[in-house]
Amino acid sequence: MFLAGTLLLALAACGGGGYEPTPVPTPAPTPTPGPSWSDVAPLRDAAAQAGRLVGAAVLSSLLGSDATYSGAAGRHFNYLTAEYEMKWDPVQRVQGQYDFSGGDAIVAFAESRGMRVKGHALVWHQALPDWVASLSPPELRIAFEDHIRTVAGHYRRRVHAWDVVNEAIDDSQAGLRSTVFSRGLGPDYVAEAFRLARKADPDAQLIYNDYGGEGQNRKSNDIYALVKDLKEKGLVDGVGLQMHLSAASFPAVADIRANIQRLADLGLQVNLSEMDVRVRDVAGDAATKLQRQRQVYRDVVGACVAVPRCEAVTFWGFTDAHSWVDATFGADDPLLFDEQYRAKAAFFGVEDAFFGR
Ligand code: G3I
Repeated sequence: MFLAGTLLLALAACGGGGYEPTPVPTPAPTPTPGPSWSDVAPLRDAAAQAGRLVGAAVLSSLLGSDATYSGAAGRHFNYLTAEYEMKWDPVQRVQGQYDFSGGDAIVAFAESRGMRVKGHALVWHQALPDWVASLSPPELRIAFEDHIRTVAGHYRRRVHAWDVVNEAIDDSQAGLRSTVFSRGLGPDYVAEAFRLARKADPDAQLIYNDYGGEGQNRKSNDIYALVKDLKEKGLVDGVGLQMHLSAASFPAVADIRANIQRLADLGLQVNLSEMDVRVRDVAGDAATKLQRQRQVYRDVVGACVAVPRCEAVTFWGFTDAHSWVDATFGADDPLLFDEQYRAKAAFFGVEDAFFGR
């Protein structure tokens, strides 16, 4: 092997033999890391001057144990959502036994810093304990009413809003998704959930939250029809457009803005409720991906800022060190701070949107 290598090099050196070494591409420069979370101006200050709330989904375990996580969350946001701990499974894993510890820790963290909290989510077909599916329809109705009454009652006056029902519209056909609730309680379960929440916490803003209906499409039309009906019954106050996007393909910003506007025209508050922007499928080097991500964050948050009733922008996590995306879509970097909590270009894109730059 050594001899062959020597011969090849010799031939190459004298230009003989037609051997041209394949040029080794110069590796794309690794983007210069951004400034630390503690060295950039609080994002909530930018949001405040635009009259908006800015938030993140958080986990109480990290708030209580990771000083960097809790420091960055406390500095940049004024509106926290429980990523998991106020859902049915962690709250009532055993029927009749309620555990509010995780949600209470998030509320306590927020209250100590003058931040607001969004409850998430009273009714969702996922994150359900197994016992719910084992109930007969009459038993389910009792459990459904008890859960909403107990949980919304527990957090009364401590949350700004609730995601009352999450993801009830079907992905592939018109109307409601078939779930344990639609099958056991009938299609009116959505309105019933809002009635129960209204009674348990009359002061909370009641939100319908969903994904895949951010722009103009069949699903967004179904969401619009659902909340229009709920609004006419005085049951709903807002809509959460989750905004889980890929920077490689996502709804036209003009469609997102038009959708936000038509929901606002119903008299509803609108939230970008779970925003993250995946970049893995964007063509190009790391710097290209980061700039594309910045542009998407800037334009989509800008569509919210353009509509007065678009009250809040919440990111589904805030550091690439903790994102649901990695476990679901594979390794990606969808959020505003990198894994070392340094502000990415995306952070400045959001800041630009709030400042109208
Ligand atoms: O930490 C608990 C552990 O104590 C427990 O024993 C174990 C039991 O399975 O679960 C662990 O919690 C995990 C939790 O995330 C906290 O990390 C759950 O397994 C896991 O299922 C849960 O996933 C969450 C998922 O919703 C389901 O609840 C994701 O973090 C969260 O990002 C994701 O968020 C959803 C929104 O609520 C609705 N919109 C879509 C969005 C993404 O799927």
